[in-house]
Amino acid sequence: MGPVILAIESSCDETSASVIRNGKVLNNIIASQAIHQNYGGVVPELASRAHQQNIVRVVDEAVKSSGITNNQIDAIAFTRGPGLMGSLLVGLSFAKGLALALNKPLIEVNHIQAHVLSHFIQDPKPAFPFLCLTISGGHTQIIRVTDYLEMEVIGETHDDAAGEAFDKAAKIMGLPYPGGPLIDQYARKGNPKAFAFSKTIMPGLDFSFSGIKTSILYFIRDAKKGNPNFVEENLADLCASIQHNLVNMLLEKLEAASYQTGITEIAIAGGVSANSGLRTALKELARKKNWKLYIPAFEFCTDNAAMIAMAAHYKYLRSEFSSLDVAPLARMPIE
Ligand code: KG4
Ligand code: ZN
Repeated sequence: MGPVILAIESSCDETSASVIRNGKVLNNIIASQAIHQNYGGVVPELASRAHQQNIVRVVDEAVKSSGITNNQIDAIAFTRGPGLMGSLLVGLSFAKGLALALNKPLIEVNHIQAHVLSHFIQDPKPAFPFLCLTISGGHTQIIRVTDYLEMEVIGETHDDAAGEAFDKAAKIMGLPYPGGPLIDQYARKGNPKAFAFSKTIMPGLDFSFSGIKTSILYFIRDAKKGNPNFVEENLADLCASIQHNLVNMLLEKLEAASYQTGITEIAIAGGVSANSGLRTALKELARKKNWKLYIPAFEFCTDNAAMIAMAAHYKYLRSEFSSLDVAPLARMPIE
């Protein structure tokens, strides 16, 4: 029988806990923080307070619904970074307390590595080597994965993350936070070629979303001078055009990465992989390029503890444990 691990995720605005037994995820309890909607983005101080309020209930529910007893737990895992310091500290301190109380080892997990390993929670699973495009509100990277814990960032954003680009574009149009899903929704009825925006061309496999954000900002500001209701009257076309541009920027680099590395096992992870325009375009590209495509269930795309548990499982098999004085890392490379 493989290990039983209790994992905790608290890097941003989701408090989550999951139990994994022998590499099989038993549950994935997630408490989302609605409070940030009032502020147009995640407020770090409020996030850590909410984690503090939610964590006991979330961990308790994960343990109880898994049917395991405390003494069956072989290790406690937590997200060490990257993430918001105050948020990470809540999960880490709780994990340390539990490890100490139950006399079990601690396993630190890199949040980005975990997003990649979310592909091993359910079938079908990618074969090594594969490329993973990780796109969320906090990160945008192309990762070359050669083994469960062997991965390398081969392309990344120099400024905003892809989700941030969606959210900021939505904010410019006066839509509430997080605007990504709303752009997706309005885009369905719009013309993706209605409006064009200029963008910063980046070398190699790197991304930049600041140019297109500025272009959208100026375009809308100027259009509103002629017609104050421009956004309302053209919302579907604006959303479809913005989405079309952002999706193209992501897929262009993914295609280049596959070409450069010769890898055709392609995976995506992170909240933005829920975008329906991206999914459609990616499936079409995969068909054309003969790629094998892997998209995890939405529950495992956004921040969750099941992916932390999955990563911890592989670390446990390699006996990679952490000491009780481990500190969180706001920035944490995956190598
Ligand atoms: O992975 P995630 O839940 O949290 C982190 O940021 O780590 O990703 C959230 C991001 C937000 O920026 C949100 O607007 C974006 O993912 N997002 C979407 C969609 N669903 C979520 N963006 C575009 N289209 C969507 N359907
Ligand atoms: Zn994430």
